[in-house]
Amino acid sequence: MYKNLPKKLDNMLHIWSEFNMLSLKYNALNLAHGTPGIDAPPFLIENMVKAVREGNNQYTAVQGHPELREALSKFYSPRFKPAINRDLDPNTEILVTVGASSALNNAIVNLVDHGEEILTFEPFYPNYMSITKLGRGKFRTIPLKTSPTEDGSALNFEYDWDTFEESLGPQTKVVLLTNPHNPTGKCLRKEEIERITELLEEKAPQAYVISDDVYDFLTYDQDYEMFANVGDNWKKTITIYSGGKLMNCTGWKVGFLIAPPDLTREAALMHESSIFNLNVPGQVAIARSLDLLNQPFEGYNSYPEYVRSTFAKSKDDMVDIFMNSGIPFTPTVCEGGYFVLLDASAARSLIPDQFLTPGNYEDDKDTLVIQREFKNKVPLDYAFARWFCINKGITIMPGSSFCIEKEKDMIDNFIRVAICKPESIVQQTRQILSQ
Ligand SMILES: Cc1ncc(COP(=O)(O)O)c(C=O)c1O
Repeated sequence: MYKNLPKKLDNMLHIWSEFNMLSLKYNALNLAHGTPGIDAPPFLIENMVKAVREGNNQYTAVQGHPELREALSKFYSPRFKPAINRDLDPNTEILVTVGASSALNNAIVNLVDHGEEILTFEPFYPNYMSITKLGRGKFRTIPLKTSPTEDGSALNFEYDWDTFEESLGPQTKVVLLTNPHNPTGKCLRKEEIERITELLEEKAPQAYVISDDVYDFLTYDQDYEMFANVGDNWKKTITIYSGGKLMNCTGWKVGFLIAPPDLTREAALMHESSIFNLNVPGQVAIARSLDLLNQPFEGYNSYPEYVRSTFAKSKDDMVDIFMNSGIPFTPTVCEGGYFVLLDASAARSLIPDQFLTPGNYEDDKDTLVIQREFKNKVPLDYAFARWFCINKGITIMPGSSFCIEKEKDMIDNFIRVAICKPESIVQQTRQILSQ
């Protein structure tokens, strides 16, 4: 046994690995993780095959393949016009990364020094916390509050402005936004961006902002608003996108970071020292496909429009199916992205005691299914998720796995359902839950 290994991260497998293993073991329908159920468009695949055949198989420029940076500048410049009123410079304002994940890593690890704070809203995408820990930064969260919608039929997530204001200060190095948000599906409104901007100017003018906008093209009921486009925000903001999400090629792991030159350079330094280069044929294929995204596709105006309509319908249908499953759920308002949260607190009495009592979970040494240690009680959402997978045949994620330890007990009533699925998976869900 090795001893004294440095421990930078918790010795705990990410919860989604655990639930994926459980899902496989019980042959359940996996609505836990965000693998899009739609494949990449045929033109992207063609371009990938051509890129490989043409010999784009060796290292390229550190900051990303030049052809891709040019194409990204053309594709993203119009939306940054309100901020900079010119085109993005492909050499100094764009960095190509190994998915949005490594864009986040590059941005956070090099920006945040020992003990400096990253502030984000909770629940949050869990990698934010692990990357901050790796960078030796301090991770601080502000829980979103829920309130009933006007007609009382659903719950809305809202910002706690007072706590946000109190949490900002000279110690704040980065405010991390997710827009649209994972896991709540909340989208930033223009007035909310303005409020964040004002509070930052007042309380933490030195802070940078990382805006994780990987679901930018997936807003269901409102426009996508960009943090970088309000006031002087461009100067302090790193905006992150994912080619994998945009083109349903998540396995290729090509992402982009757009920021003013000083911030892009910082992230590029980290990128060069860690990754150096990534998937060149994928970069070439994406470069040649960005223009094609805007052509009509399957009866829709564009490929992103086709994906958005499919997932919007899946969202409505999935919520409907879960609400009519005989299990009492309260839906939350999902405005964008891959997931919807459902409040399962009224379902407690349906869950057998075995799942609610610590120490009773199976611990299967042949899989990654593990016995998590719960202090006094098993959070409702974990118990629900285990029971739902094993007994009902559908895997979902416990919502509190998107929370820090301190808040887990308070936010343990939500389950996260993936809605990034085509009609066939929706039908399968309907069939399973109507049994
Ligand atoms: C909010 C958020 N940011 C970043 C990522 C990572 O994206 P990529 O696959 O491009 O690394 C994900 C993936 O699910 C995500 O949900």
